[in-house]
Amino acid sequence: MNTKQLALSAAIAIGLGACNSEPASQFPAEPPLAGASIGGPFSLVNSKGETVTNDSLKGDWRLVYFGYTFCPDVCPVDVERMARAYANVKTGQPELAEDLTPVFITVDPARDTEEVVGEFAAAFSPDMIGLTGSDEAVAEAVNAYRVYATLGEPRDDGFYLVDHSAYIYLMDPDGQPVNSYDRATPPEAIAADIEHWMTS
Ligand code: NI
Repeated sequence: MNTKQLALSAAIAIGLGACNSEPASQFPAEPPLAGASIGGPFSLVNSKGETVTNDSLKGDWRLVYFGYTFCPDVCPVDVERMARAYANVKTGQPELAEDLTPVFITVDPARDTEEVVGEFAAAFSPDMIGLTGSDEAVAEAVNAYRVYATLGEPRDDGFYLVDHSAYIYLMDPDGQPVNSYDRATPPEAIAADIEHWMTS
């Protein structure tokens, strides 16, 4: 065996060793959204009329979804997915769920009053909080999370749709972005991802 062959066999041995002892992680080393400009200060109100801010949630991991309760299709499906992901964590790792809060923030404060967002969130999970506020306060939150939301033209009866982006964001206890999940991600996969980042 010459030097070249030795080096090659050593490299193979190291490669195999690493492969046997530690299978490649399905998770990246860093959170996918590390350093992204998503999140920031906001000041909204919950169903009890209490002010909830980015700072008042400090210390809690959060799942954050922006939508509106009159949404005919997308929002209920997405919020159900967020609730199921949360329930999955709560069942499997209840101690983690204690430090995790699912949050629904309306992009349609004119119709989504404190009572309406509260009832909507509670229908999916008793632990989910629904937040609304003035147009300005909601706009601040929407802009902080880089959410896209545009009110559609009202019908004759006044009903209107809201076109909006639809991501579930995982935020860390400092309100920094960790990851986002689109509608292609099933609740079990979201739960596994949450558990990974909460424990790494
Ligand atoms: Ni929607």
